[in-house]
Amino acid sequence: MRTISEAGNLAGKKVLVRNDFNITIDDSGKILDDYRIRASLPTIKYLLEQKTKIILSSHFARPEGKVVGEMRLSPVQKRLGELLGIEIKMAPDCIGPEVEKLVNQLKNDEILLLENLRFHPEEEANSDDFAKKLSGLAEVYVNDAFGASHRVHASIVSVTRYLPSFAGLLLQKEFEALSKVLENPERPLTVVIGGAKISTKMKLIEEYLKKADHIILGGALANTVLHAQGIAVGKSLIEEEVIPDLKKLKLTDTKLHIPVDVVASADKTGQAEIKIDPVGRTGEGELILDIGPETEKVFDSVIRASKMVIWNGPMGYFEVDKFSHGTEAMAHSISNCPTCFSIIGGGETTCFVEKFGLIDNFSHVSTGGGAMLEFLAGDKLPGIEALN
Ligand code: 3PG
Repeated sequence: MRTISEAGNLAGKKVLVRNDFNITIDDSGKILDDYRIRASLPTIKYLLEQKTKIILSSHFARPEGKVVGEMRLSPVQKRLGELLGIEIKMAPDCIGPEVEKLVNQLKNDEILLLENLRFHPEEEANSDDFAKKLSGLAEVYVNDAFGASHRVHASIVSVTRYLPSFAGLLLQKEFEALSKVLENPERPLTVVIGGAKISTKMKLIEEYLKKADHIILGGALANTVLHAQGIAVGKSLIEEEVIPDLKKLKLTDTKLHIPVDVVASADKTGQAEIKIDPVGRTGEGELILDIGPETEKVFDSVIRASKMVIWNGPMGYFEVDKFSHGTEAMAHSISNCPTCFSIIGGGETTCFVEKFGLIDNFSHVSTGGGAMLEFLAGDKLPGIEALN
């Protein structure tokens, strides 16, 4: 993978950068987590120092090939401008004559942000024609969108056919930190997996049951694991399609750690009665919404004995404060572990860790969600392969 520092003299050149500005915003357009924007700064600053004309591009959310007002990149334009202290020009689209005109007016050290790439269906279709139009805007291409590099999309894959292509500093940093886990993990290696959907994390779980020393499962996905073993989970949501695979897991496997007690309630609001039940005692009318205090202690002792910890996904329904205790306890366990090289990733995970004020206490905070999981499961990411 050729990196940006190997691109030679870039002064005066038009550089198309693919970023992952898929951030979390609320209904009013307020940014809830700007980590991905901040993580993009080193490459942008490098290109500013090199006196290039910078064209930034990204997807945002899933507009499905149509222009959706709430999915414009203007919140990113504003935040990036604040962080860099310079004006970021905003294009009305990502291709077309108007965009070309704005690009041609760019001076060295100026930045133009293209509008959401996914407003065009050709982006997700990995259209060659669309990639040609995008690449026509620039002379050099830089992929700094680690978080989207598991997608076979035009601005990630096809575009590399038309321009000299390099990895940005963020992509390089992610690659180096995560490769450490694949190639030379420090041991004991513990993988903590939470969140809602176990189906999206099955491959990782299977892989690390072989590779890791410990696997901790929490959050809503642990309910599907418990249910598969015939343990009562009340009316908690479960994913039926993965039950046959989960039945093969041996809960007695000393590597595997699942909740021993849970926080349950009749609804998610936090208004109904909240109980702490030993696992298996959840009533039919109850939902499991967090790990219990005994589980926190068990998980903490596993973490403290580890040298490397990877974490993705919350331990409970952290959106409601009354059910965020397990997730917060996990964030403290990992970030306070003196012996651990800690890696966390995923939009949701960085969002709550930031909310707890702990984001700076981890060794590596990946901007990738699905991309990090696929990379760690040993898959080749198409965006990285395309640079090779
Ligand atoms: C992410 O948030 O994981 C990336 O930005 C990719 O987004 P996507 O899942 O919508 O392709």
